[in-house]
Amino acid sequence: MKALVVGSGYLGGTIAAHLLGRGDHAVVCSRRRPAAASAAGLPWYPLDVRDADACRVAVREHSPDSVVVVHGPSDITWCEANPEAARAAHAGGARNLADAADGRPVLLISTDNVFDGTRPSCGESDPTSPANAYGTAKLAAERTLLDTGAALVLRVSLVYGWDPDGLRPNFATTCVRTLRAGRELRVPDDHWNTPVHVDDVAAWTAALLAAGRTGLLHLGGPDRLTRHEWALRIAAVLDLDASLLRPSKRADGPYSCRPENACLHSERAARLPELVGLEPLGVDENARRLSEALDQTHRAVEDR
Ligand SMILES: NC(=O)c1ccc[n+]([C@@H]2O[C@H](COP(=O)([O-])OP(=O)(O)OC[C@H]3O[C@@H](n4cnc5c(N)ncnc54)[C@H](OP(=O)(O)O)[C@@H]3O)[C@@H](O)[C@H]2O)c1
Repeated sequence: MKALVVGSGYLGGTIAAHLLGRGDHAVVCSRRRPAAASAAGLPWYPLDVRDADACRVAVREHSPDSVVVVHGPSDITWCEANPEAARAAHAGGARNLADAADGRPVLLISTDNVFDGTRPSCGESDPTSPANAYGTAKLAAERTLLDTGAALVLRVSLVYGWDPDGLRPNFATTCVRTLRAGRELRVPDDHWNTPVHVDDVAAWTAALLAAGRTGLLHLGGPDRLTRHEWALRIAAVLDLDASLLRPSKRADGPYSCRPENACLHSERAARLPELVGLEPLGVDENARRLSEALDQTHRAVEDR
C-alpha cells in the first residue's frame, strides 16, 4: 500500500511512521519540511492543500493507493479567531484533495468538535452541530469527502502521547513536564474528554485503510474524564506532586471555545473485524508505560 499523508505534524508523522513500520509506503506532505520528531526523516513532499493544481500534481507524481487527510490548522483557538483561514484549509483543502484523488480511497481524520458538546458522548448516529469555527470547517470537509463515496471519516477525540519536542505539546506531555519541573498547572474540572493515544490512532488508520473501509467511524479512548481528573491520574501513576494541579473552569481559559463534552464513542467499531485486538488503551496504562520509558531513559543516562 502506498499512502500520501497530507499533514506532517504529530498525527501525520505518527501515522506515516506506523505505515512505513508495517512495510507500506508513505510520503508526508506539508508546506514546510517537518522538524518535529514524529515526522523528521520521513519521505516528505511540499504541498499547500489550498492550491488545487498542487494537489493534482502531488497525486500524479506519487500515484498513491490512498490519501490520508490530516493537515492543520489544528489549533482550535486560532481557528476561532481565523474562521475564513480555517475554512480555506480544511473545507477548501478537502475539495482540492477529493478532486485530485479522483476516486482513490481517502481517509480524513476529523474531530469531536463537529458536535456542540451538550451530550455526554456522541456516536456516529448523533446529529452534528459544530461547537466552533474549527468544527464547522471540519464538518464541511467531511461532507465533501463523504460525497465522493470513496472516503472514510475517522472522528478522533483529543490525541495524546509523549511529545516533548512538539511545537505545541499535547495535554499529557504538558502535564508531565510541568509537574516534573515542580510548577503549578491550571486544569479545567468541567471539560470532559475521551483521550486517545496517538499510537492507537495510527494503528486504526492503517487497519482501516488496508480494509478499504468507507463511511463514518468514531475513535475515542475508553476513559471519559475531565482534564483535572486525567491530570490527577497521571500524577498518581508517575508519582508526581498532585497538589500543583489547580482546578479551573473551561470558560476561563484557552479551552473556552471547545465543547464541554469533547467525547466520542463508536456504535460501529465492534463489528469491524480489522479492529479486533486494536482496542485503545486507557490513560492509566499509557501513563504506566510512559513512566517505565522515562525510567529507562533516566537509567541509560546514568549508566553513560
Ligand atoms: N491532535 C488532535 O488532538 C486531533 C484530534 C482530532 C482530529 N485532529 C485532526 O488532525 C489534524 C492534524 O492534527 P495534528 O495534531 O497532527 O496537527 P499539527 O501537529 O499541528 O500538524 C498539522 C500539519 O498540517 C500541516 N499544514 C497546515 N496547513 C497546511 C496546508 N495549508 N497545506 C498542507 N499542510 C498544512 C502543517 O505543516 P505546515 O504548517 O508546514 O504546512 C503540519 O504538518 C488536525 O488539524 C485535526 O483536524 C487532531
